[in-house]
Amino acid sequence: MNITPENLKIYEDLALTCAKQGNFEEAAAYIQQVHTLRGWHQSKEKGYQFTADWFSWHIPNWERLLKGFVGYPGLNALEVGSFEGMSTCYLLDHILTSQTASITCVDIFENMLVEHSFDFNISQTGSQNKVNKIVGQSKKILRMLPLESYDLIYIDGSHIATDVLRDAVLCWDLLKVGGILIFDDYEYETPIEKPSDAIDVFLEIFSSHTEILEKGWQVFLSKKSFIKGG
Ligand SMILES: C[S@@+](CC[C@H](N)C(=O)[O-])C[C@H]1O[C@@H](n2cnc3c(N)ncnc32)[C@H](O)[C@@H]1O
Repeated sequence: MNITPENLKIYEDLALTCAKQGNFEEAAAYIQQVHTLRGWHQSKEKGYQFTADWFSWHIPNWERLLKGFVGYPGLNALEVGSFEGMSTCYLLDHILTSQTASITCVDIFENMLVEHSFDFNISQTGSQNKVNKIVGQSKKILRMLPLESYDLIYIDGSHIATDVLRDAVLCWDLLKVGGILIFDDYEYETPIEKPSDAIDVFLEIFSSHTEILEKGWQVFLSKKSFIKGG
């Protein structure tokens, strides 16, 4: 089959079907094709092994909204929820391209296989020296990280609203003024998980200090100012 944009949906469906059947090697190969079609050629070249892709359909927004960060010396990123490292690898390949850029990845890695995949994929990037992996619950780890020191924070951990709200408030204090905070799964909803309940409350309370850059399945905010009183 030719790799054309029209075939994107077919490759995505094939990857899903293979993963459901436990055929992870084939799923990974289809996901590499999907990434190639979306302009992420390093995914195939470096042989990343992903079994699920919740990320790559957002690449156009990440390209557009993070272009000012590309190659920026000393760029410091934080990710809550890394899974197999797809968003981390994308950031390393496309945004954190300066030798002095870095990313801290926080995940509970409940499943050892997922953690092995993360380690494998990060080693394939060739930029593993830029990655600081911290295993643990975000509510504990985020409290240990330095305040106002990250340029970019991606929140994609727990989807339970109370957890999302806590992650948002803790991450806000870790973000530099001028930094960008991204929430995933704004429109995701199950009977027990509804990130938008938390994100809406956060946006309302922090509205005078944030600029909304994009609001869809993912929400991109820029931090305009500190809040008086802390
Ligand atoms: C949707 S996945 C992340 C996907 C990843 N960003 C990507 O691009 O593929 C969510 C991840 O969050 C992690 N997670 C869930 N609850 C967490 C918590 N309370 N603290 C830290 N990580 C958590 C899970 O282990 C899982 O790996």
